[in-house]
Amino acid sequence: MPDLASDSQGLHVLGVSGSLHENSRSALVLELFLRHAAEHGAQTRLLDLRAVELPLYRPNREPPSAAEERMFQDMLWAESVVLASPDYHGSMSGALKNFLDYNWEECAGKLFGYICSSHEKGLTVMDQMRTVVRQCYGWSLPYGLSFHGSSDLDAAGAIVNARIDARLRMMARDLVTYGTLLHRQFGADLAGAETNTFAAAYRE
Ligand SMILES: Cc1cc2nc3c(=O)[nH]c(=O)nc-3n(C[C@H](O)[C@H](O)[C@H](O)COP(=O)(O)O)c2cc1C
Repeated sequence: MPDLASDSQGLHVLGVSGSLHENSRSALVLELFLRHAAEHGAQTRLLDLRAVELPLYRPNREPPSAAEERMFQDMLWAESVVLASPDYHGSMSGALKNFLDYNWEECAGKLFGYICSSHEKGLTVMDQMRTVVRQCYGWSLPYGLSFHGSSDLDAAGAIVNARIDARLRMMARDLVTYGTLLHRQFGADLAGAETNTFAAAYRE
C-alpha cells in the first residue's frame, strides 16, 4: 500500500519488461522511459523478466521462490508501474501475463502506463494490459506508446522517429505527474475514515 512518507523523495516508478528476447526493443524503450521519468523526479526500478525468471503462476505454492520474492518486493515498492511488452499475436507476451497473474491487490491506487513493440499499432496488446489492470483496480493512462522495433529505432537502439521520442517524453512526464496525484489521494483515502471510497476496501 502507498507510503505517504516517500512522497518527498519522488514517485516510485517500476518498469516491468515482458520480453524474453535477448535483444529486446521494448526493453530498450522502457529503459529510456525510466530515464525520462527520473528527470521528472521519480525514483525508478526495472524488473526485467529475462533476469528474474518467474515460474508459471501456481496458486498456493510455498515457499515462494527468490524470483517471486523479488517481484513481490518490487510491486510493494512501486507507486506507479509501466508495463512493456512485444506484440505477440495481438496480445501481450506470456511472460508479462504470467507476471500479472501474480498481482492483484498490489495494483490498486497505482497509475499504469503501457509500452508495446509492434509491427502494427499494438492497440489490442495495450487494451489487454489495460483490461487486466482495471480488473485489479489499477488506474491507466488514457494513451500508450507503440513503436516499430525496426523503423523507429536504429541498430544501436536509439529512437530515430521524433514523434515516438516526443510521445515517450510526454508519457514519462504524465505518468510521474498524474501518478503522484493519484498516489497522494489514495494514500489520504487509505489513512482517512471516509467509507464512501473504493480505497476503504484496502484498509487493514
Ligand atoms: C510469437 C510471436 C508473435 C508475434 N506476433 C506479432 C503480431 O501479431 N503482430 C506484430 O506486429 N508483431 C508480432 N510479432 C513481432 C514482435 O512483436 C516484434 O518482433 C517485437 O518488436 C518484439 O519485441 P521485443 O524486441 O521487445 O522482443 C510476433 C513475434 C513473435 C515471436
